[in-house]
Amino acid sequence: IKRVTTHSLQAMKSKGEKIAMLTSYDYSMAAIVDNAGIDVILVGDSASNVMAGHETTLPITLDQMIYHASSVVRAASRALVVVDLPFGSYQGNSKEALSSAIRIMKESGAHAVKLEGGIEIAESVSRILTAGIPVMGHLGLTPQSIYKFGTYTVRAKEEAEAQKLKDDALKLQELGCFAVVLEKIPAVLAGEVTQSLQIPTIGIGAGQGCDGQVLVIHDMLGLNKGFRPRFLRQYASLYEVMNDAIKHYVSDVKAQAFPSDKEQY
Ligand code: KIV
Ligand code: NA
Repeated sequence: IKRVTTHSLQAMKSKGEKIAMLTSYDYSMAAIVDNAGIDVILVGDSASNVMAGHETTLPITLDQMIYHASSVVRAASRALVVVDLPFGSYQGNSKEALSSAIRIMKESGAHAVKLEGGIEIAESVSRILTAGIPVMGHLGLTPQSIYKFGTYTVRAKEEAEAQKLKDDALKLQELGCFAVVLEKIPAVLAGEVTQSLQIPTIGIGAGQGCDGQVLVIHDMLGLNKGFRPRFLRQYASLYEVMNDAIKHYVSDVKAQAFPSDKEQY
């Protein structure tokens, strides 16, 4: 199978073929996602929420991201694997950003990194790119800044923030990013940004105008029972499927219905 590259994503935008991206954090899930034909697997710092149970993405460490990423890389034979630089591993200075990105590439075997922010992190983005590491940008509702925003509501509804987002997107393209994630912003704005860029945009809660879409795998499979924002389409109800299977197992064990004669040596 031919590996998806940053160049194939660019070609997809040129042809008008939409890009499908999902998160994964472990080998078994990534194997299913890769085999199903996903273009990009994101080892998101949403692992902090869905894997570790933290309330925000802030606590996850670089070592923990590398562990998740290396597990995903072993499963992905077709997808491009992109890894989030976690909070605190790139904002301080651009040398620290580069050494964090190098650790991810070297220790996990991933193909690219993703950083949150625009003009403020330009120096870090440039330095990582000069080392030959592809960078994906991330603008809009950037969860590592949740304490600045105060809420998880839609960003860039006001003109000033919308204009900054447009400038940031152009800046990221000019620096050499291969794509940019647009999270939870008005569809019209995301469409305008997409039109203004040569590089692909990947939306989450950013509407139909983006060049691709991304969702957190646990959310789209219905593994997170309570989480149902408007942008999320739930493609399965795995919470119920797993809950039923586990209840069935418990009752079989209690009733001595498992194992049967045929299930023992
Ligand atoms: O960490 C993550 O899952 C993400 C996507 C939602 C874009 O950054
Ligand atoms: Na993320």
